[in-house]
Amino acid sequence: MLFDAALSPAEIDLIPSQNLPGTVCVVFDVLRATSSIITGLAHGTQEVRPVLSIEEALAARAEWPDAILGGERHGDRIEGFDLGNSPLEYCRPGLRRIITTTTNGTVALRACASAQGVLQVLAGALLNMKALEEYIREASPERVLLVCAGTFRDLGLEDVIAAGMLAAAFPNAEMTDAAQVALAAYTRHSADLLAGLKHATNGRVLYQRGRAADVEWCAQVSCFNLVGVMDDGVIRVAE
Ligand code: MLT
Repeated sequence: MLFDAALSPAEIDLIPSQNLPGTVCVVFDVLRATSSIITGLAHGTQEVRPVLSIEEALAARAEWPDAILGGERHGDRIEGFDLGNSPLEYCRPGLRRIITTTTNGTVALRACASAQGVLQVLAGALLNMKALEEYIREASPERVLLVCAGTFRDLGLEDVIAAGMLAAAFPNAEMTDAAQVALAAYTRHSADLLAGLKHATNGRVLYQRGRAADVEWCAQVSCFNLVGVMDDGVIRVAE
């Protein structure tokens, strides 16, 4: 198995035009999109549809009238939407279907889904790390692409740490230089992941904006034993 990584939004921009046969993509937007998606799936959400724009979200709701609209722009709930992007909001029971649009996370998920030849696209978070590891071990794909969603146009340290944590579970796998960078970021912060998240720009901004509880939630490791797999544009819990 070969581990590779797309560490920044600039690399993610290139993914839709790539041919990635034999590849499982694992998308990390630890603060907070994929953490919110995993939290929702762990609390009874059956389907999550990641979309690229507010317009697309509204059009998707016309197809799924029972869906809840979630997501953010500049970290805040979008006007007229039901939920923001705090994972704590996704613990609410009764959110059966969610349509979500965020600045980076949903873009990264959709980029991976549109590449040619991809075997699967998984939503990754610290929250479901052990389940991701077991899923990858079982699937044993030729190549795992760790996709770090980032923040606006920048690399997000929290995503790179999580990507490295998954890579660290496969010490005998081949690693590209990018995957080794992720591994090094994880090793540097493995003793205290919450401190690593707080150290990241995005973590600091969330603390400054009174959202410490979100960062603390997203720093929890392997508390949900599930994997979110995207199929035909919709993320569901893997069987
Ligand atoms: C994103 O998709 O860029 C993030 O998850 C942003 C956020 O939650 O504030």
